[in-house]
Amino acid sequence: MTGHRPGILVVPAAQFGVAAADAFLSLLANGGSAVVGLPTGNTAIPFYAALRERAAGPGNPLGQVRRAFAIDEYVCARDHRAANRAFFAKHWSPIAGAPPVEQFEPEASDLPAEAARFGDLLAAVGGLDIAIVGIGRNGHLAFNDPPSGPATSTRVVELAAESRSAAASTFGPTVPRQGLTLGLSELLAAAHVLLLANGAAKAAIVERAFAGPVAESCPASFLQHHHSLTAVLDEPAASALPPSVQVFR
Ligand code: GLP
Repeated sequence: MTGHRPGILVVPAAQFGVAAADAFLSLLANGGSAVVGLPTGNTAIPFYAALRERAAGPGNPLGQVRRAFAIDEYVCARDHRAANRAFFAKHWSPIAGAPPVEQFEPEASDLPAEAARFGDLLAAVGGLDIAIVGIGRNGHLAFNDPPSGPATSTRVVELAAESRSAAASTFGPTVPRQGLTLGLSELLAAAHVLLLANGAAKAAIVERAFAGPVAESCPASFLQHHHSLTAVLDEPAASALPPSVQVFR
């Protein structure tokens, strides 16, 4: 495996999943045992699929994952087929060597207390070493919809209209109104952040996140200040980046 190179990596669309998996494995190989934050969403599916293939080979590449934490969840029935729990059961759990994912309890009667429990659990293991995140079309990271600032912590949120409409394809007409999410403070405190984005529908928000002002109106823009950010973008998602944003291919 090649050494890890932070920065913005742009790859052909067909190589997106493998490039994302290799970037993660490279981060893992360069660190000690790691606490990782895991995303859901369509972006993450080719990533987990490629990770599954890599993990089926020799060397137990996920052996360095000490703990895994979901970065968010919908407030919905815990066994709902569109809940993030179901996503992890389908896409993460079959990966060889993958530890169980710590998850929000979406049926908790006291949701703020549940958010606090989850935040405390993460803090007790020392926070995230590697935060893997997708990006919403409105610039959200996890369910930190705009406006969200860098001091936001793990909490219950009202989902933005864009986040709810993006979830309609899996939930159908009754998309949850609330979510539970790690805050930007927990995500940005990670030693490494790995941002994944693919597809032309993300081009405008990727441009805003990397080339626009750092502002609560685009929560992902705070990644411009992160000391160890790796982004894996496919060519369509990177297509609106100006030349002033340095990428490698
Ligand atoms: C979802 C999740 C995020 C995810 C993002 C992008 O709703 N809350 O964690 O990264 O939105 O989703 P997708 O990859 O499907 O575009």
